[in-house]
Amino acid sequence: MLETISCLISPSMIHDRVKSLGQEISDYYNQDELTIISVLSGSVLFVADLIRELPQESTQIGFIGVSSYFGKTRKKVRLTNNLSIDVRDRHVLVVDDILDSGKTLEYVQDYIRQSGATSARSCVLLKKTGAPSTADFVGFDIDDKFVVGYGLDYNGYYRNCPYIGVLENDSV
Ligand code: IMP
Ligand code: MG
Repeated sequence: MLETISCLISPSMIHDRVKSLGQEISDYYNQDELTIISVLSGSVLFVADLIRELPQESTQIGFIGVSSYFGKTRKKVRLTNNLSIDVRDRHVLVVDDILDSGKTLEYVQDYIRQSGATSARSCVLLKKTGAPSTADFVGFDIDDKFVVGYGLDYNGYYRNCPYIGVLENDSV
């Protein structure tokens, strides 16, 4: 099956928005110590760019791995990689690629709170139409289409595409 990707968000649009998002987050935390937790693997390109817009002297970064699957009646999320750093008594910002059903963020934020964080807020690069408004910071609102690139994958591929695009084929 030949897949084509139609560009939805260009590299320069991503660059400009990540810069302004970094400013919003910096203003919000106002020099408070902040721990960024990046949700593997989709958020790694986004988080690498975002953290360079945050204060160097007060920002730490760690990772968590989760995967989601459909159980008998609803989407379930499970841990695949433990938290890489201690979040006890820290203000945590969970960073993920995209907000769809909201189950992934809900799971990770609960996990962070149970791990003793002072606060657990969230930031997503993309929010799909119809997704719950559970993220504190959102890069772009997009239509409910399957997108790839800039970290987002289809069957493990296209994460290294420099723009965000809609994957057009019959099988998605
Ligand atoms: P949620 O738990 O339904 O909010 O889904 C969030 C996760 O599903 C994201 O972290 C992505 O890994 C994946 N996902 C949802 N929509 C897309 C998409 O359009 N492209 C690629 N991955 C997606
Ligand atoms: Mg993901």
